[in-house]
Amino acid sequence: MEGIKFNQIGVSFKGSGSCVPEQILTNQKISQKVDTSDEWIKSRTGISERRISSSEDNVTEMGYKAAKTAIEMANWDLKTIDLIVLATSTPHDLFGSAPSIQSKLGANNAVAFDLTAACSGFLFALITASQFLRGGSYKRAIVIGADQLSSFVDWNDRRSCILFGDGAGALAIEATSEYDNLIGFNMRTDGGRGSFLNLPSKNDQNSIIDNIDFLMGGFSSIQMNGQEVYKFAVREVPIILEKLFKETNYSSDKVDWLVLHQANQRILDSVGDRLKIPREKILSNLEKYGNTSAATIPLMMDEAIKNNRIKQNDIIATSGFGAGLSWGAALIKWG
Ligand code: UT7
Repeated sequence: MEGIKFNQIGVSFKGSGSCVPEQILTNQKISQKVDTSDEWIKSRTGISERRISSSEDNVTEMGYKAAKTAIEMANWDLKTIDLIVLATSTPHDLFGSAPSIQSKLGANNAVAFDLTAACSGFLFALITASQFLRGGSYKRAIVIGADQLSSFVDWNDRRSCILFGDGAGALAIEATSEYDNLIGFNMRTDGGRGSFLNLPSKNDQNSIIDNIDFLMGGFSSIQMNGQEVYKFAVREVPIILEKLFKETNYSSDKVDWLVLHQANQRILDSVGDRLKIPREKILSNLEKYGNTSAATIPLMMDEAIKNNRIKQNDIIATSGFGAGLSWGAALIKWG
């Protein structure tokens, strides 16, 4: 079987890590806050509980811990890391949280920056970092997905607050001249449908001096049209994955694992059905963590790697989708 044309430098997958906050918010507890029930949430989403950050486990802390574990698994000397890309929409520092992670790790030779693409963020960051490796600029990269959406959820809006949780995951990737285990990828954006899911700025007008106003920085809470996002996901994700299979001469029956952004179990099942991928190949941990935005894919992969479900040379079809609207897919061979 042929992958995408191998062109001198490829990507290999060397390590994974993850971190979630300690605080657990069950459906039962949410129902003390808004008019909902464990039964409603479970049957409509598959989610039972989610993790909520305290001041000790913000995006920088969680991202650092996830990255550290991935580096330990890869067994890398910290000085050899060239690049750290942090996918997040909820940085601890609006100027970028990746530099703090670089410093905490002591990966002093790495350039580190944030990338924002909401729930597609990890996939977009993985592809971005991979292109630096494939292009020959860098040899070793850490790609992190970390989000703390609990800080931006409207906890009085039962239509959205039940979905989200906090967490982080990371992968360690390395350039190799022997093969390319990022078999293929695709990315898409449709800003015209962005209003289906967004987190807009909310700026109070203030004066600096007479006649010169400024807008104080701030954000409102997550605004979501759940039904439209649902329809978007179950339509676009199978299309982009099918396109990817075609371009790489793969097919869904060659896939060992389907790792989708963990948004809703009904979305996972529907995409799997459309692609004729059996349920036992669809990895899911959203029951425990809900939707952790940029973190879901590496959090899921790390769990499956540590549980020895994802093994060396397994073929993983993955897709991220969400606000933007943005979506993407990648075909990976683990190892
Ligand atoms: O990264 C992407 C992030 N976003 C998503 O993944 C969102 C994708 N969409 C979804 O997952 C689903 O649309 C939801 C889980 C958000 C909602 O499920 P749904 O089956 O589409 O429900 P609905 O919005 O059609 O609402 C059905 C009913 C409504 O009541 P009426 O109008 O029929 O009387 C809602 O008011 O359920 C009501 N409802 C709730 N009831 C109890 C909405 N939220 C809740 C709730 N508990 N939490």
